[in-house]
Amino acid sequence: MTPQEAKKEIEQLTEKINYHNDLYYQQNRTQISDFEFDQLLEKLIKLEIEFPQFKDPNSPTQRVGGTITKEFATVYHKYPMLSLSNTYSEKELLDFDARVAKGLEGEPYEYFCELKIDGVSISLTYENGLLTRGVTRGDGVRGDDVTANVKTIRNIPLLVKGKKVPPVFEVRGEVFLSKEVFIQLNKEREDIGEERYANARNTASGTMKMQDSSEVARRKLDCFVYYLLGDETGLETHEESIQKLEAWRFNVSPTYKKCKTIKEVLYYINHWETKRHELPVETDGVVIKINNLEQQQLLGYTAKSPRWAIAYKYKAQNMSTRLNGVTYQVGRTGAVTPVAELEPIFLAGTTVKRASLHNANEIARLDLHIGDYVFVEKGGEIIPKVTGVDEEKRTDECKPIIYVTKCPECGSKLVRVEGEAAFYCPNINGCPPQIKGRIEHFIQRKAMDINSIGERTIHQLYELGLVKSPADLYDLKREDILRLEGFKEKSAKNILDGIEASKSVPFESVLFAVGIRYVGKTVAEKLARYFKSIDKIANASVEELLQAPEVGGKIAHSIHEFFRNAENKREIERLKAAGLQFQSDAKEPEKESDVLGGKSFVISGTFEHYERDELQDIILKNGGRILSGVSGKLDYLVAGDNMGPSKLAKAEKLGVKIISEKDFEKLLNS
Ligand code: IVH
Repeated sequence: MTPQEAKKEIEQLTEKINYHNDLYYQQNRTQISDFEFDQLLEKLIKLEIEFPQFKDPNSPTQRVGGTITKEFATVYHKYPMLSLSNTYSEKELLDFDARVAKGLEGEPYEYFCELKIDGVSISLTYENGLLTRGVTRGDGVRGDDVTANVKTIRNIPLLVKGKKVPPVFEVRGEVFLSKEVFIQLNKEREDIGEERYANARNTASGTMKMQDSSEVARRKLDCFVYYLLGDETGLETHEESIQKLEAWRFNVSPTYKKCKTIKEVLYYINHWETKRHELPVETDGVVIKINNLEQQQLLGYTAKSPRWAIAYKYKAQNMSTRLNGVTYQVGRTGAVTPVAELEPIFLAGTTVKRASLHNANEIARLDLHIGDYVFVEKGGEIIPKVTGVDEEKRTDECKPIIYVTKCPECGSKLVRVEGEAAFYCPNINGCPPQIKGRIEHFIQRKAMDINSIGERTIHQLYELGLVKSPADLYDLKREDILRLEGFKEKSAKNILDGIEASKSVPFESVLFAVGIRYVGKTVAEKLARYFKSIDKIANASVEELLQAPEVGGKIAHSIHEFFRNAENKREIERLKAAGLQFQSDAKEPEKESDVLGGKSFVISGTFEHYERDELQDIILKNGGRILSGVSGKLDYLVAGDNMGPSKLAKAEKLGVKIISEKDFEKLLNS
């Protein structure tokens, strides 16, 4: 492809992707499948790597991240990011209204009410329409420059087009994880045996500070904006600025309302008190602002917050009820979770009977006794929490909780892994919820995608002794299934067809399905691309596993251990015999040149322009070889950021040439 052709293609792809992004994020419509969309994006990424001179600074490829920031630069805010004074009482709100009336000396005024989004605040700077900087609040005076991460948030425009867009302006808003994405994220954590994140806000905050922006992109952050600042905006009211932001295609929560009186404000607050739980995002109050911007200036600021606005915070709904008992749930990985069995109460729109107590430490921290009256809270969160004990109501009848020492499902003695809060049931191959959990994990959509089987069917298959491990599914016969309650010829055929079809599910999905602890779908995809077959993964040393992208010590040890377990080995052999895909059908890369002919490479660390597996492909395509570790035979160590110091020291000692990403490109083009 000539540079001219590349330029044209890059422009066309950019336009096409922007069009589909806009359709998806602004209009909730789609015209192409996710797969087609990803292909367009992948094509653009490749062209941009090859012809960096034509890369648009606001290319949609930035949405997938890839920048590694070692340390975020500190940036001073042009306008300080103040906080708001808070209140929980109507009386104080009326006092606020009286202060406003006094401050404005009898002028008429209006309020503008918005829901208070429970996330982390962000400042976005646009210059000549381009998003140039995203900065966290920090201490209000200066924050962290997290631009690369901000650019991955798909409903933050990278480019603002329109009439009268000021040359420079700033937009403020709240970055958050939607309830749905947060639940999904926790499900994925559970899938790989990691502890759940406690709440969406802190997780969003932690995500904004991640160093690898491609990981941020995967987390699917969201943003609502609520403030437009600038010297030449020509605006008179806050309402106009919100309308402007909407017209510029920023994401504004549609829940705002202009209110003529404080009474209307109170009505708005009441209206959203329970209704807010139906929204896709967590909210914790209402922000009440004076609508007229001149009046805002007139009222001015205290040292910490504006006098023209206030936040009314909803009290987390809290009630006390009797703790009738504690039960214990055993998950797929054997982790035991204690659950509070409560005297049912009606709280924030639903009846609450149970609440997770997380682990033994939490029970000790709360000093819970059976028979206690406990406070149960439903903040924005979907899952209710036990927050404390009503000490005054404790009687002699209340008995301390003695944490189970044996698995409630199979009776095995529980064990605790050093450094972890949870107790585990070690009876991996004999404990029913672990067995059924593994089969459920195996058949799920992201894994083998056998949607003709559900949880109830698995339960029945297990109870009848027909299926004790995923491999048993492939031995099922028509007669076996007809033994299940409610199954006839047609439904039996459905199940068998589903199982048969799963044999063509690609290797990366199979690798995820077998349920190696800490190997989620993304890691499975990377492993499959890097190693290309299960045998290579199974035979790899920890050192070799660490070479693969996304694989750190914890994952490497987990994989290594998995393949050294006799039971797991037998299971994999049976699945192989059943005909599942255990190698990647990606063809060996076609040879492009022999410029690296005979030279050997080790790749370590992270790179600005390439994933490690991409570098590997390039080396192989150009005649080079990849070695698993640094030795005297090695020609080049391609060193990226954050590579292990021991590898570097070893290479130096052995006199191996250590080259950077740039040096590598030079070598390739020599
Ligand atoms: S206005 C000077 N509006 O709440 C006023 N803030 O304690 C600037 N927040 O730091 C804030 N939703 O992170 C405003 N609709 C909204 C908001 C909102 C959430 C957050 C924001 C701010 C904090 C104030």
